[in-house]
Amino acid sequence: MNGPARVGLVGCGVIAKTYTEGSAAFDSFSVEACADSDTARAESLASEHGLESMSVDALLASTDLDVVLNLTPPDAHAAVVGGALAGGKHVYTEKPLTTSVPAARELLASAGRLGLRVGCAPDTFLSSAYEAAREVIARGDIGEPLGATAAMLVGGADTWHPNADFFFRAGGGPMLDLGPYYLTAIASLLGPFAAATGFAETPTPERTLAVGPRAGERFTVDVPTYVAAALRLASGALATLTVSFESRGQYESRMTVHGTEGALSLPDANQFEGELRVFNGGGEWQAVPYASRGAQETRGYGLHEMLEAVRDERPHRASGELGLHVLETATAVLRSAEEGRTIDVVSRFSHP
Ligand SMILES: NC(=O)c1ccc[n+]([C@@H]2O[C@H](COP(=O)([O-])OP(=O)(O)OC[C@H]3O[C@@H](n4cnc5c(N)ncnc54)[C@H](O)[C@@H]3O)[C@@H](O)[C@H]2O)c1
Repeated sequence: MNGPARVGLVGCGVIAKTYTEGSAAFDSFSVEACADSDTARAESLASEHGLESMSVDALLASTDLDVVLNLTPPDAHAAVVGGALAGGKHVYTEKPLTTSVPAARELLASAGRLGLRVGCAPDTFLSSAYEAAREVIARGDIGEPLGATAAMLVGGADTWHPNADFFFRAGGGPMLDLGPYYLTAIASLLGPFAAATGFAETPTPERTLAVGPRAGERFTVDVPTYVAAALRLASGALATLTVSFESRGQYESRMTVHGTEGALSLPDANQFEGELRVFNGGGEWQAVPYASRGAQETRGYGLHEMLEAVRDERPHRASGELGLHVLETATAVLRSAEEGRTIDVVSRFSHP
């Protein structure tokens, strides 16, 4: 690639707007084209942002593009990522990597054979706040890490998202949709997970779309919507994570890392900025200052970091390998809840 990587975006829905608007902050790539199985959506995004609207097949096969940015719903991820690789392009995908661990493994093996990169959201764990948190932990300011407590509790996308039903189908649910934020954050701060247990409930079996052209449509909920997980890390640290689509009117998202000498309170892992605070025995929580990257504190940073890594011929950080580990952990929690036993997590990731 000479100059900015030419990006083709697949899936022109809600999050596509965030990525296209945020892309101006990055000189490593330029979004050139977009595609959607719903042609009208691709055309609308294309005209709004001066992109070329293409069919999905043409975009995946195009030799004028270097990278595919996959922003489709989870059940389309494997096909789009596979299509991008078959078309000879690097690919960065929204989370979860796929909806099945074997499919994810196959895609990563194929990328490896082809010498292509797979990157996977979330990239919020690369924010300046989380980088500063890594330094606090590495300096030993909280002693030896004992573990983490994390929670992300929302009311469910049926109140605000025009296609919210996909969040409640196989491949959705809060553990696969919200879980990746804190599973990625914990793994990147404290290392890989080794075992998972979980309990899960589906208190609201049917919902109604509240907004968009399909408003009023009722749908059944196929997945657990309130999940509590207890996790053992390979380091011996222990973590808990609760995720919910049942917490009506609420938005609660937080994590604390606990150590032998103190604790670290992290900002919302669904955002790029927020307060980082440390407690190390002095009686008061103290704010930890960190320098912001300004406009680059946005979704797209993980893609940017991947493209810089391609140019520098080094591994990238929001990697497919990490995405696979997070997917394996999230599905292990759900399997544990179904089968009533602890499930081992076997995948690992390198930690550049
Ligand atoms: N909405 C959010 O706030 C948000 C935040 C972070 C991440 N994400 C992730 O981003 C992804 C997309 O979410 P969204 O909210 O933008 O969904 P959305 O429904 O608004 O948009 C998805 C788009 O993909 C298109 N599509 C579906 N199947 C396709 C296929 N096979 N090929 C091409 N296009 C296809 C749909 O027509 C739709 O326009 C999901 O993985 C989600 O987890 C969403």
